[in-house]
Amino acid sequence: MYRSVTVSALSDRSRPRTFLVGLFDDDQAVSGDHQGLDHRLGGALAEAIKRPELRRKLGQIHMLYPSGSVDRIIIAGLGERKSANLESLRIAAGQGLRAAHAASCEALAAAFPDIEGKPTLEDRATAIGEGIGMASLDFDEFLGKGRAEPGKSKASATVKVSVDRPMLSGVRRGLTLAASANYARRLAATPPNIASPAFFAAEARKLARKHQFKCSVMDEARLKRLGMGGILGVGKGSRNRPVLICLEYRPAGGRASDPVLLVGKTVTFDTGGYSLKISGAMAGMKYDKCGGMAVLGAMDAIGSLKPKVPVVALLPTVENMIGPDAFRVDDVLTMNNGVTVEVTNTDAEGRLILSDALAYGCRKYKPRAVVDLATLTGGVVVALGDHCAGLFCADDLLRERLVDAAELSGERLWQLPLWPEHRELMKGTHSDLVNSGARRAHPIQGAAFLSFFVGDEAPKRMPELPWAHIDIAGVAALDKARHHLPIGPTGFGVRLLAQLIDNWPSRSGKRSKS
Ligand code: BES
Ligand code: MN
Ligand code: ZN
Repeated sequence: MYRSVTVSALSDRSRPRTFLVGLFDDDQAVSGDHQGLDHRLGGALAEAIKRPELRRKLGQIHMLYPSGSVDRIIIAGLGERKSANLESLRIAAGQGLRAAHAASCEALAAAFPDIEGKPTLEDRATAIGEGIGMASLDFDEFLGKGRAEPGKSKASATVKVSVDRPMLSGVRRGLTLAASANYARRLAATPPNIASPAFFAAEARKLARKHQFKCSVMDEARLKRLGMGGILGVGKGSRNRPVLICLEYRPAGGRASDPVLLVGKTVTFDTGGYSLKISGAMAGMKYDKCGGMAVLGAMDAIGSLKPKVPVVALLPTVENMIGPDAFRVDDVLTMNNGVTVEVTNTDAEGRLILSDALAYGCRKYKPRAVVDLATLTGGVVVALGDHCAGLFCADDLLRERLVDAAELSGERLWQLPLWPEHRELMKGTHSDLVNSGARRAHPIQGAAFLSFFVGDEAPKRMPELPWAHIDIAGVAALDKARHHLPIGPTGFGVRLLAQLIDNWPSRSGKRSKS
């Protein structure tokens, strides 16, 4: 279910009956920022803080029921003051919203304290909006009559949140970002018997109508003319024919300038192909489209935020199946830039579809920078786990921008190396490249393979074009609930990319000074 959230400014005249208050665990007294509020609540916070049982660990919730004009106070723990950050605000606000909803509360006033360090008021308010917004989605769309209360949980409700006026614009921005992340999360959760390549072509067209993007969907005939051997090869085994989806955002009124290119791996289901996955590894492969969903979600946010930089999004969209027509191990594919690839493993399909999109996008749009997101390798899950994505980026400026966006969004990145030596791992004998080399450094092999397709010089040397590859295999979906986020897709990348693009310097730089 999705509870829509609206936000307004808290005024002296408003008389909210539910308050959501963030408190640090180690505060011994009501902090300066909550003095006025505590007065309004008749000293209830000061009373509560004294109680030893009222721990306020990160995400912990307590309900107080004071007498008087206020029905309830939801205390949301922020953990220790010195370790609090923007993510703490997201978690506390999100858990508070969930508690409010469990109490069937439809309106509340939210108050969170300052946190130490750099974050501005706008950034803090944004984080609160993100937490509230992302906590408002549950994946119950496919629950049926097998549940005790069929239909009930599907009912949508609106929660009215009021905040101090200076927080208003930031909270609104956070809610916008969260709505786009939730859009990506819902699409990512849609099962593969529904969410086919054609389904996403229709979704992209809808998104384009909503935001006046240019949209084109390249079908198989078109892909053949363009020589997209990777997308066609991987797509051959499925009745659900592959497509390459393109969305273009141009800022209104701005001088035309080179766009940022976003590319997202959209494998609607990954069986592994003839290099079939063992059954345990196949479950959850509907999430192999999460790179593409992150890009779609980011485009939704971009459509709302209207940044100054043009953006082109490409989603190579295929289903990796087996069958009489499926591609095989030993097949040689000719990619969009003329590079040939011997298929050594049909389960290394993501790089085959991304490469066509990267080569095509670089040639057609002459981007100032390129970022691709993909659930590319199980190896990155082994190496980095599920608290950060793997980042490959040799361009200092683009990497700094991404690290800043990661800091703001809480979608963390950790850099892994990609050196010219790594490209050797991917060289073929009877073809230019193989799609999977020896059993070592799989996440780097994936990145190294992609490096042969970024920009004109790529087949010969490392790309000079600012390019980042982000392997999100570990972070795209949760296998157990984490704070306010339930089991299922996280929307990782939506807020990261949206922050990256929205904070891109407005001056229209050329390629080198991206
Ligand atoms: N979609 C998978 C990667 C993946 C694994 C995503 C686990 C999420 C969770 C990808 O297509 C894949 O199968 N990669 C192979 C590459 C190998 C054959 C070189 C892998 O990581 O095993
Ligand atoms: Mn695979
Ligand atoms: Zn895959």
